[in-house]
Amino acid sequence: LPGHSDAGDVAARVERKWAFFVVGLMLLLVAMVVYTGLHWAMMPPSRVETIDPTTLHVSGEFIESNLGTAREADGSATVRIVAQQYSFTPQCILVPAGTPVTFRATSADVVHGFLIADTNINSMLEPGYVATFKTTFDKPGEHLMPCHEYCGTGHEGMWAHVKVID
Ligand code: CUA
Repeated sequence: LPGHSDAGDVAARVERKWAFFVVGLMLLLVAMVVYTGLHWAMMPPSRVETIDPTTLHVSGEFIESNLGTAREADGSATVRIVAQQYSFTPQCILVPAGTPVTFRATSADVVHGFLIADTNINSMLEPGYVATFKTTFDKPGEHLMPCHEYCGTGHEGMWAHVKVID
């Protein structure tokens, strides 16, 4: 039957068209996944600041006399902290309320945790890198600052205080 075979051809052609369409769509989606994956993998991190952990105590920004809270010319405050097994230096950090505060912290030995309770500051401190956070404390009070990354046998005792003053 000629009529029957025509209908069969049309059906086969339509089916093939849809098959190509679906395969093409899948290839497009895979290409998008690969492209965005490679694109983001090749982007440099937004900000990486490195430092030599072996000379922290000898020279540079993180020498002991430079640690703690410093007032900047623009009225803001900068707090420099060094983490080491098993303490933070300094242990008690005084910061002014209602003032932009920049924390700059690094580790002298292994990976430590850096968390200030009741704030969104929560990170790891890796030797070789400087972690920077900006925040403003609205009101006076005290915040615990525990190390929350297991760093050895004295990990549980590693914590400091952040005291916000008027
Ligand atoms: Cu430092 Cu745990």
